[in-house]
Amino acid sequence: MSTGYIPQEVLDEIAARCDIVSVINEYVPLKRRGSNYQGLCPFHNEKTPSFSVSPGKQIFHCFGCGKGGNVFRFIMDIEGISFLEAVEKLAKRANVPLPEKEMTAEQRKKMEQRKRYLQINDFAARYYHKVLMESQQGKPYREYLKRRQISDEIIEKFQLGATPPGWDSLYQALKKRGVSNQEMLDLGLISESRKNGQYIDRFRQRLMFPIGDEKGNVIAFGGRIIDKDASPQKYLNSPDTPLFHKSRNLYGLHLARTGIRNADQAIIVEGYMDVISCHQYGITNAVAPLGTAFTPEQGRLLMRNTYQMGISFDGDAAGIKATMRCLDILSDLGCTARVIQIPDQADPDEYLKKYGKEAFERLIKEAQELIMYKIARFMETTNTDTITGKMKVVSMLLPDLRKMQSAVARETAIREISIRLQVSEKAVWDELRKSSDAAAEPGRKEEEASVSVQETEQKAGNIESKIEKNILHILFDRPDLLELVESYGGVSLFDSPAAELYQEFQSSIRRCGKVDSAGIGQDKGQLLANLLMDELYITDQEKTMNNALWQLKAERLDQEYQRLSQRLTENTKVGETGNMHEILQKLDNIRREKKELETSRKGE
Ligand code: UTP
Ligand code: MN
Repeated sequence: MSTGYIPQEVLDEIAARCDIVSVINEYVPLKRRGSNYQGLCPFHNEKTPSFSVSPGKQIFHCFGCGKGGNVFRFIMDIEGISFLEAVEKLAKRANVPLPEKEMTAEQRKKMEQRKRYLQINDFAARYYHKVLMESQQGKPYREYLKRRQISDEIIEKFQLGATPPGWDSLYQALKKRGVSNQEMLDLGLISESRKNGQYIDRFRQRLMFPIGDEKGNVIAFGGRIIDKDASPQKYLNSPDTPLFHKSRNLYGLHLARTGIRNADQAIIVEGYMDVISCHQYGITNAVAPLGTAFTPEQGRLLMRNTYQMGISFDGDAAGIKATMRCLDILSDLGCTARVIQIPDQADPDEYLKKYGKEAFERLIKEAQELIMYKIARFMETTNTDTITGKMKVVSMLLPDLRKMQSAVARETAIREISIRLQVSEKAVWDELRKSSDAAAEPGRKEEEASVSVQETEQKAGNIESKIEKNILHILFDRPDLLELVESYGGVSLFDSPAAELYQEFQSSIRRCGKVDSAGIGQDKGQLLANLLMDELYITDQEKTMNNALWQLKAERLDQEYQRLSQRLTENTKVGETGNMHEILQKLDNIRREKKELETSRKGE
């Protein structure tokens, strides 16, 4: 792979300063297991961790989907960016200066535009904040926040703001600073008035909530009316813009990341005020979707920090529906999702104000897991005195019972269903079996087949031979042993795909004295990662290498000898004698080589 304008030493320096465990840990919560770290693979959906990171080798590998490689590879795949972009990202993180890059005019323009967009939003956020804090016009908003018991500290933390009176104050202020109409339109800060084609502020008469990205850059806004007559719409949000996609961001995430990691749980609430209240009461791991249904992208964002989610939406019908949907999304992603139920249809904001932090924490502890929550909800909405009612509830629960990975969990759930519905456990088991058979019929099979095809495709590149693996692994650690491998025959020792990987090693070692894993292409990078994930417990690498090479060479000679003698027999059978002499010659050579090999061994 071409590394473009970045010299090898710089790549090494970046890799050395970006510990793969801490880099990956920012995207995937990792737990130590032996000498490696483990987590749920971010590249495919799974419920049991098969994603492994080796701090010693500085590589990652997923035993489920086969993806693997070094820290650059990880960033490329998780961010969906090119090698150079990944290098730049990590260089920035590691504070390693990169040589001046020849950016295309278009790239530079795009980067500068993004920077300008962020500056404009930042200006707007500070402008709104100033209106709230310092101006006469901000007074009703300050009083509103006081009524809702929002502390000054929280107002600062969330950079709350207020719009100034009038139709176009922000527009005028931005214009004065040289911001173009187009940029303001792009960011959804203004709109064109239908009446006279004039530009007016999008947000008017609203309490303002800046929305941050993961790093805290202001990428959008939400605004709430405080006067019912101001607008029929309680909340107004920025539209999707070049900086903001409501389905891919979460309110409060940058402020909650530490809290989420510390608690090893994220609390998902419904709205701005719930997030703010939670943080004020010390529940600092709360986030909210942005006025739309919770999405898998948002789930993945949270999964960079934890696999345990608590959902606390409203208790009304719409809230229950949203909760079910969110539960399904999260559990399909492999998270443990629980429902934090608040009595009396209150929202977290109201509950915290009334009962305080400890009471809310008790609710978090008592949160129900998916299946228990669903049993209860389905029973509320179905008359289970009748047989049809019971059947209906069981059938609604079957998909989730089928999906359950743990036998213990399934058994517990079925016991619960049996008790609550007053049917025998066996009946539920029977239904489950029937539905599993049905689910295994054509439609479902296809789905499974396509998954396994994909898996075998990705795994097809594995090196099967343990001995080839060991040789390559040692060579990776000890590039100085290259000539030893060569003396035994080099590439001719290996089968595909080990042979191709060996060739990569060889040219890399000849080029820069070591195996440069950053320069190895994607498919071979995965091969390498898979190879290096096995810990080698070897004290004398050179001796083990010698033994392995000797053994592999002997095997290869035996194989070749066998192949040739077989050909000889076949040729004799069909009366072909043309190349008999040549074959006999070759067999002779092999016998000699084998003998030499054995002597060299005894001579040790
Ligand atoms: P809520 O009406 O529950 O708002 O809507 P809230 O956050 O509890 O705020 P308060 O307590 O009334 O001040 C939940 C979320 O739904 C979105 C917002 O994201 C809001 O935070 N929403 C609601 C809208 O986008 N537009 C609306 O008109 C209403
Ligand atoms: Mn509320």
